[in-house]
This record gives sequence, C-alpha cells and structure tokens, in this order.
Amino acid sequence: FGTMIYDPGYYNTAVCKSQITYIDGDRGILEYRGYPIEHLAENSSFLEVAYLLIYGDLPNMEQLNLWNTKIMNHTFIHENLIQLMKSFRYDAHPMGMLISSVSAMSTFYPEANPALAGVDIYKNKQLMNKQIFRILGKLPTIAACAYRHRIGRPYNNPINSLSYTENFLYMLDRLSESNYKPHPTLTRALDKLFIIHADHELNCSTATMRQISSTLVDPYTAVAGSAGALYGPLHGGATEAVLRMLEQIGSVENIPAFLEEVKQKKKKLMGFGHRVYKSYDPRAKILKSVTQEIFNLLGKNPLMVIATELERLALSDSYFINRQLYPNVDFYSGIIYKSMGFPTDMFPVLFSIPRAAGWLAHWVENISDPELRIFRPRQIYLGRRGMTYVPLENRN
Ligand code: CMC
Repeated sequence: FGTMIYDPGYYNTAVCKSQITYIDGDRGILEYRGYPIEHLAENSSFLEVAYLLIYGDLPNMEQLNLWNTKIMNHTFIHENLIQLMKSFRYDAHPMGMLISSVSAMSTFYPEANPALAGVDIYKNKQLMNKQIFRILGKLPTIAACAYRHRIGRPYNNPINSLSYTENFLYMLDRLSESNYKPHPTLTRALDKLFIIHADHELNCSTATMRQISSTLVDPYTAVAGSAGALYGPLHGGATEAVLRMLEQIGSVENIPAFLEEVKQKKKKLMGFGHRVYKSYDPRAKILKSVTQEIFNLLGKNPLMVIATELERLALSDSYFINRQLYPNVDFYSGIIYKSMGFPTDMFPVLFSIPRAAGWLAHWVENISDPELRIFRPRQIYLGRRGMTYVPLENRN
C-alpha cells in the first residue's frame, strides 16, 4: 500500500481523472466541458447542458430534439410510486420524499442492477441511456408530487409537450391544463438556475456518486445516495439554511451582532465559503443578475436588503477576508426561489433536479473508466487492541 496519507475531508486527494467540469477556485472560473458557465447560462437550456455534461459535446439540432423527446417521454411515474409518495406524513420534508422515491425506483427497473439482471448494463449503452432518461425525466415529477403532497393537493400528471422547466412549473402549481402558461421570465430564470447548478466537479454529493457507483450498484440507488449527501446543510441544504438564517437575523440592525457570533465560532455564516473557490463564486454573480430579473417582475424580496448588507459587511471584515470567504451559490439562490413562491424546504429539491445531470455524467465517466477501482479509503486506527472479553455479570 506504500505510504498512507492522512487527509481528513479529502482536502488534497484526487480520486479520479475527469473531463467534465473545470474549476479555477482562485480566479473564480467554472467551465462545463470547456464552456464557460456564463456563456451557457446566457445562451443554452438546461437539457442541452445536461446532454453536454453527460455525452461530452453540445448536441446538434437532431440530437437535441431526440434527447428532449426521450426525456419528456419518461416523465410519468409508476402508479405504485405515487402510492409510496402518498404514504408519507402530511408534513414530510420534500427532500426525504425525493430521496426515498428515487431509491424506490431501483425496485421498478431491476434491469439497472447488474447483480439482479445478470446483464452487464455497463457494456450496453442503450440500457445505460434508458436509466438516464428515466432519472432526468422522473425527478421533476417526483419533486412536484412531493410539493403537492406537502400542500395537500392532488398530484398533476406531466405534460410532455411542454419544455422541461415549463412542465415542472405546471406540475407544481396548476389546476387546469388548458389555461396554463408560465411567465417566460420565470421559466427562463428557473432554467438558468438549473444550468448553474448542474455540475460542480467533485462536490460532496458527486463524490458520493463516484463512491457508490464504484460498487457498480444501479444508478437509482447511487442517485438517492448522492441526494442524501446534498441534503446536508453544509452542501445543498445550505440554500434552505441561508433563508432561515436571513429570516432569523430579521433586520439590518441585527447583522453586526450576528457577525460577531460567527467570528466567535458560535454560528456559521451560511452561504459563505467554499472548499475550492477562494474568490467570488462565478455562479453567485450569475444569480445576482437573475435575482434582478425576478425582482423586476415580482417586486423586491425584503430579505435581499439583509443579504446585501450582510455580504457588504462580511466582505469588509478581516475574519472573512483572511479566510477568503465569499458568497457561494447558495447565498442568493434561496432568495430567488422564495420570491418565485417556493417554500423553503423545497430548495434542496430544486438543487437536486439539475445536479442529477452532473451525477449522471460522473456515473457514466466513472463506470467507463478503465482505472476505476472500488472506493475504499484507509484509516489511521487510534483505538484499543488486544482486549479480553468480560462476561456481562463481571462488568462494573
Ligand atoms: N462561516 C464562518 N466561518 C467559516 C465559514 C462560514 N460559512 N466557512 C468556513 N469558515 C471558516 C472555518 O471556521 C475555518 O476557520 P479557521 O481557519 O479559523 O478554523 C476556515 O473558514 C476554513 O474553513 P473550512 O471549514 O476548513 O472549509 P471547508 O472547505 O472544510 O468547508 C464549507 C467548506 C462550504 C463546508 C464551509 O465554508 C461552510 O460550512 N460554509 C457554510 C455552508 C455553505 O454555505 N455550504 C454551501 C457550499 S457551496 C454549494 C454546495 O456545495 O452546496
């Protein structure tokens, strides 16, 4: 095994070679397959970006049309999966519902599990694509059902003729198919949000995807595990945590006292800091402009005043300057989601839908990697050894 390196949190460990996403954390650069995130957010659509991430190149017209059709033809979920969703408590967290439901998908499509099917799906591109269509197609439906469940309304069937984002907005909210037309600014804003959340190299949930899929388990189980990692407040759950923090601060006068507590390490400034970015997160810049578009349409969210002042004060404070802590993608996304009418606990769900494209891109790259080995880190054992078992009656 050679020399073991102690590296808690994998600060300095590269576990794979990848061609998907490039980040320069010092200069605030993010590229998917070589394309700057700013260009993609401005010009592309989420499904096109998903294709780019998974297959490596931008699709031509014919490929894009087929891709859209394939994904939109897989939006319906099995009736029994709907029954499963209906069995959750009325106030179940939508992220818990999403994780469980995606995991349950593995029981509906056993051909995805090499151990059960006796087929090596990893040598069969068609079979692999089928799982990709299903996961990308059904995730928004599961997410919308989770939302409808939470508000106690019947679930809406998807409309496959709508675009990916339009259909998601429709399933969330609409009672009537005939008069439904989401405002194009909202659809475009959500699509942009999906684009910038689609991948971010080996963030914790994508590293989880790499780890789980190194066992060759089916992709539904691997996506459920990745979504579990994303749910945590230090990762995608930060979107939710930021909004709760801003609400708790309540007004600009309370910010200095809050920052004092952060500096005393009693609290964390949620939505700040990043393992890789040691300058401004480029996604946070894009989000600021989307925020403006949403505010122009729907009016300014009062939490924005607190967020802006919090950012200003933090960025002029030596605690944050010395540690190179800047706003990350989660700092502004929650305010946008809130302004669009999403409840706070839907935020990590809204992060998971697009991130599934990144997880799947890493799934494909991982299992196609001739150098892939099962992930199995080592530990430095500090516990006792050589103990003698003491029968229960002889213990103090
Ligand atoms: N508030 C206050 N102090 C912080 C923060 C923060 N948000 N983030 C880091 N620090 C401090 C940390 O205490 C440490 O200080 P010291 O050197 O005195 O011990 C120093 O900065 C370095 O931090 P770290 O914990 O070693 O950094 P990390 O790379 O392990 O953690 C992080 C990265 C994102 C988990 C962390 O910055 C954090 O907890 N941020 C708040 C949660 C958050 O916004 N998460 C979303 C991340 S971006 C999108 C995503 O992945 O979903």
